[in-house]
Amino acid sequence: MPSVRFRLNGAETEIDADPDRSLLDVLRGQLGVTGPHFGCGAGECGACNVILGDHAVSACDTPLWSVADKDVTTLEGLGTDEQPHPLQRAFIAEQAMQCGYCVSGILMSAAALLKQNPSPTSRDVKEALDRNLCRCGSQNRMVRAVLRAAEEMAAR
Ligand code: FES
Repeated sequence: MPSVRFRLNGAETEIDADPDRSLLDVLRGQLGVTGPHFGCGAGECGACNVILGDHAVSACDTPLWSVADKDVTTLEGLGTDEQPHPLQRAFIAEQAMQCGYCVSGILMSAAALLKQNPSPTSRDVKEALDRNLCRCGSQNRMVRAVLRAAEEMAAR
């Protein structure tokens, strides 16, 4: 079995796996990284989003080979219980989730946005989250939460 090396949440990682398997399958099934969720399995819902380099990608349709020697960040790399990321604090403060299933993917899309654009407008946030599906109807709260996190991060 070939091996693929990449950095997962800052840690050098080497995994023996079929390089054509999806990153999501390897993360959840082999590495025990369960932050990215399986939703549609077809790159349509964003529940599985991770950050590859500086961009949010759906891990379900990202082949393992394509992350070789790259940085992959999952929800586990965003914050901790002791030190949550400003986005995580803002989502709690704005009560921006209901069932929570989609939220890890949404947080990763939002974190990628703030990496690229630390001062987004409401429109920027809506565009960045456009491909993340949420059936609970929390979208407006999520936009407020991302803007709140951006303000907090700018004030540091
Ligand atoms: Fe990957 Fe839906 S599970 S986009």
